[in-house]
Amino acid sequence: MLKLQNVYRTYHLGDEQVHAVEDISLDIKPKEYISILGTSGSGKSTLMYLIGLLEQPTSGKILVEGKDVSKLSDDELSVIRNHFVGFIFQQFNLINKFTVLENIMMPAKYAKEKLDFDPEERALELLKRFNMLNRKDFFPNKISGGQQQRVAIARALLMRPKLILADEPTGNLDSKTGEEILNLLEELNKKDGVTIILVTHDHSVASRTKKTIYIKDGKLVGKYI
Ligand SMILES: Nc1ncnc2c1ncn2[C@@H]1O[C@H](COP(=O)(O)OP(=O)(O)OP(=O)(O)O)[C@@H](O)[C@H]1O
Ligand SMILES: [Mg+2]
Repeated sequence: MLKLQNVYRTYHLGDEQVHAVEDISLDIKPKEYISILGTSGSGKSTLMYLIGLLEQPTSGKILVEGKDVSKLSDDELSVIRNHFVGFIFQQFNLINKFTVLENIMMPAKYAKEKLDFDPEERALELLKRFNMLNRKDFFPNKISGGQQQRVAIARALLMRPKLILADEPTGNLDSKTGEEILNLLEELNKKDGVTIILVTHDHSVASRTKKTIYIKDGKLVGKYI
């Protein structure tokens, strides 16, 4: 489904080169549930941005369903990104001036082509599934952190992506609420067959996924299956 081949992402800070990601090769298959585990600064978010096509590698290749993404234009890339992947972040990243329902429908606004579903209908369906229909007209700053993260998950699912990328999705939540979010992600993987990659520094969170990839100083140092 998605392959990384000897991928590097190097940043230049003055004279110094920082290899945020160094020579990582991965083969991500459909329906996997993988965690990327590593300490702060180890390159987890950079790796996630590369997988999510938000960043291009400095060298190496990324293949999405066999296609080398470095050969695509920015427009082609954004079409793939919009349909193929949904993002979830530690800070939820909802837009406070829009309602819950409007936030969830946001990815449909960026779609350049005609959609084969009604975004509002799908957003309402997701809200119902997440027991949040009664919050649809609320603004994000008027609901709890756990509810905000469920809205962010609904937004990530709107376009029916094959892949969900979650960067420390429980990092801003208390342990009980974090547990509920992890249960929800597990259900999306098991029941809906969504491939999930979860970035975390927390071993107990990583232990909830089917497979863990461990990174240190930008390098892949181990896989536990
Ligand atoms: N835009 C950038 N410019 C320069 N250096 C960067 C940039 N983004 C990341 N880095 C560096 O790359 C390395 C990896 O950063 P990254 O954000 O991927 O780590 P992380 O594992 O996600 O850390 P955290 O757990 O704190 O979020 C760090 O040394 C960081 O300082
Ligand atoms: Mg990070």
